[in-house]
Amino acid sequence: AGVFTYDPGFVSTASCHSSITYIDGNEGILRYRGYPIEQLAEKSTFIEVAYLLLYGELPAAEELNGFRDIITHHTMVNEALLRFFEGYHYDAHPMAMMVGVVGSLAGFYHDSLDIYDSHHRDICAHRLIAKIPTIAAACHKHNIGEPVMYPRNDLSYSANFMHMLKGTPCEDYEVDPLAERALDLLFILHADHEQNASTSTVRLAGSSGANPFACVAAGITSLWGPAHGGANEAVLKMLEEIGHVGNIDKYIARAKDKDDPYRLMGFGHRVYKNYDPRARIIRSVCHQVLDKLADSNNPLFEMALKLEEIAANDEYFLERKLYPNVDFYSGIIYRALGIPDNMFTVMFAIARTVGWVAHWTEMVSDPHFRIGRPRQIYDGAPQRDYVPMADRG
Ligand code: CMC
Repeated sequence: AGVFTYDPGFVSTASCHSSITYIDGNEGILRYRGYPIEQLAEKSTFIEVAYLLLYGELPAAEELNGFRDIITHHTMVNEALLRFFEGYHYDAHPMAMMVGVVGSLAGFYHDSLDIYDSHHRDICAHRLIAKIPTIAAACHKHNIGEPVMYPRNDLSYSANFMHMLKGTPCEDYEVDPLAERALDLLFILHADHEQNASTSTVRLAGSSGANPFACVAAGITSLWGPAHGGANEAVLKMLEEIGHVGNIDKYIARAKDKDDPYRLMGFGHRVYKNYDPRARIIRSVCHQVLDKLADSNNPLFEMALKLEEIAANDEYFLERKLYPNVDFYSGIIYRALGIPDNMFTVMFAIARTVGWVAHWTEMVSDPHFRIGRPRQIYDGAPQRDYVPMADRG
């Protein structure tokens, strides 16, 4: 028996070296490959950020065009894959379908896949980034019984997703340029966040040499929970349940009550003990989007702002350094863009796929790559002898 460091929840254990994303939780700093998230949010596009996260540098114009071409080349899925949806009940949660259907990609791309060959790894990354929106939109189409829409490669990554989500064979969907930009920005902000639960899951699954498409399905599973990516859907449920600014105090009191497991959704973060920089950016985009696109969502946004203000002056939240996180305001924008609530976490998964594949690639190409294998502290029974059934009390 060995002596192991006990670190439940991995609060202070670094599981790897990584050069992809830097976070300083006390200062509220987030950088992709050294570039501040605020600059990328203002100046970049999701497809450029995807290139940056995967390859470490901002692309030159030709490299970006080449990358965009490759991604659009892979946007279609095998027709046989679409039949997987038939096995799902019409009202299955889209994340349940994502887990299964993305995992099924492993059944299409396996035979000659060599994870130690950088060209093969690139193809996996491109396929995943390209096909995830196609599968995600098909999940929604299954829910509402409409035909699956084929991708349109003349559109941007975000506009193509909206076309597949909202368009029908009878009517094209024209995405508003502000909505397209807002969606692209949300994708940028969600693209990576170093060793969060889902990324660590992808790494651990991949550490055995498993098929990367199956590893990403494992990441989607981990993301689904309300403590992680599922929080964006939970925030809207919470705001609707609160219903009115006058009821906020009651819910704050519940969140503070130690005998009540209730938590404010979209609040708190394992790493940020300061304002989540992504939440700050999303809050300001909320102002722009709601002003222009959907006045009807303003009451929810006003309630969210009020909730934040009340929490910001409450000792419980101050002492524990609990601030709004990335999920607090994102659902309000998604709704204003016409994206259904049960697709919010799927939106997160689309963006985070880039982070997952970037981390998987980094791990597999690391010369110190080895299987992940945490240890435990055994608290069970000491050795004892088997008791025959007749002698058991
Ligand atoms: N509402 C009320 N109290 C809270 C909350 C909250 N949302 N979050 C943390 N606390 C309290 C918690 O009860 C504990 O209090 P005490 O010290 O008295 O026991 C203290 O703050 C520390 O919390 P913790 O659970 O030890 O913190 P953690 O690092 O293990 O969990 C978290 C982080 C994000 C899971 C947690 O803050 C939470 O459940 N938040 C709500 C769900 C959420 O918004 N998740 C999205 C996270 S950001 C995006 C993503 O990762 O996908």
